[in-house]
Amino acid sequence: MSAIPQKATGEIHIRGGVRLQGKVKVQGSKNAALPILAATILAEGESCLKDCPKISDVYRMLRLLQSLGGHVRWEGEGVCVSTGSITTRDMPSDAITGMRSSLCLLGALLARCGSIVMEYPGGCVIGKRPIDLHLQALERMGVRFWQEGDKICGQAPEGLSGAVISLPFPSVGATENILLAAVTARGCTRIEGAAREPEVEALCRYLNACGARIEGVGASCLEIRGVRRLHGAAYRIPADRIVAGTYLYAALGTRGCVLLEQAPCRQMHAVIHMAERMGAVCHVTEEGLYVQSVGELVSPGLIRTGVYPGFPTDMQSVALAVCAVAAGETRIEERIFENRFRVAEPLRQMGADIRQDSPCSLWTQGGRCLRGERVKAAELRGGAALVVAGLMAEGETTVTGCEYIERGYENICKDLRELGARIYSV
Ligand code: EPZ
Repeated sequence: MSAIPQKATGEIHIRGGVRLQGKVKVQGSKNAALPILAATILAEGESCLKDCPKISDVYRMLRLLQSLGGHVRWEGEGVCVSTGSITTRDMPSDAITGMRSSLCLLGALLARCGSIVMEYPGGCVIGKRPIDLHLQALERMGVRFWQEGDKICGQAPEGLSGAVISLPFPSVGATENILLAAVTARGCTRIEGAAREPEVEALCRYLNACGARIEGVGASCLEIRGVRRLHGAAYRIPADRIVAGTYLYAALGTRGCVLLEQAPCRQMHAVIHMAERMGAVCHVTEEGLYVQSVGELVSPGLIRTGVYPGFPTDMQSVALAVCAVAAGETRIEERIFENRFRVAEPLRQMGADIRQDSPCSLWTQGGRCLRGERVKAAELRGGAALVVAGLMAEGETTVTGCEYIERGYENICKDLRELGARIYSV
């Protein structure tokens, strides 16, 4: 049986107006799992990743590892991967195109095999997604890149050497690729201005469990002492702070009362604080995050996204949906990606009053009811925001383009049904 089931993609139907109540377990983190799966390429032997989320981005990464010679099997609540026979010699075409979405394979394959071929990663709907910071850093570690048609080729003929790398922007992906290249490089690497997102921290913890020597975990300056080899490890993927945040704001917007089991509360301060400013009462308990929406749902005034520990850009669309109904006017400034307001149009279709005054800022006048409509998701987090909008809207909402939502949410319909929502997918 294939380790990677094919899921039908279709439409999500929601009948809004239900206050969410009850408890739901938060899945493992997509953005922690992907770089850690790439990192298994560096480990001799098998790694078993508990709570690895069953989402299409993970299935795609597993297919890539298999196409490169890796072995994958799901076991209980996790997935086990062994990559003893990985090679990039005559890389299969789906690996080359697949690399575009799994950029974190870049550093791991260069470290393991000394060469890569990948399709030039074009932009996506939320922005140009350049990779200049990745390439510049890896060049400093001994990689030579050149372009052949629409492909990028990379080679490290003498292997990888440690370097001091100062990132002008704390890019999550670039930090991860440098880590993956540095852990078995010759000598030491120092990353100044590293990303501090929890997913980078999780990657460091997995790599150290495999025998790497990374210091400064969680800080913006990381020191990596290269080692000759890494062994496999058993590691638990942390809960997904963006999935937890999505359900937190869904409870807020529907005036509900829910328990988000295993929510990574320590990593959610900005998200929790913003929800409390909008009227939520939140309690961190051993079981997870308890949230109750009492009193009026009010605008927080200003939401400005930023690098961790700021308000996460991945929560911006969901927050916009809730601000569209909260009393008062909200300004949202998106400071990470240059085109992350795509969801504004379908929200307007549902009755939201949203005025964009620049590519990276908009206003929404709340205090209004949304009405159910047929709307289309154009990317992952915008799709989740449309589901949250449907939960708050009067009448029936149909969200199409669910393949985007399945990239990051194991089963958003099942999770929300467990909280009492009238929602199903076909
Ligand atoms: C990661 O993307 C996440 N993806 C994103 O989540 C998340 O939004 C983002 O970090 C910010 O937190 C994964 O982890 C798989 P960046 P990444 O490099 O690594 C610019 C989701 O919905 N930049 O920190 O691509 C870039 O254009 C996804 O789960 C350069 O200019 O983010 C962007 O404006 C969406 N040159 C900004 O930095 C580079 O070489 C942030 O990018 C690299 C990035």
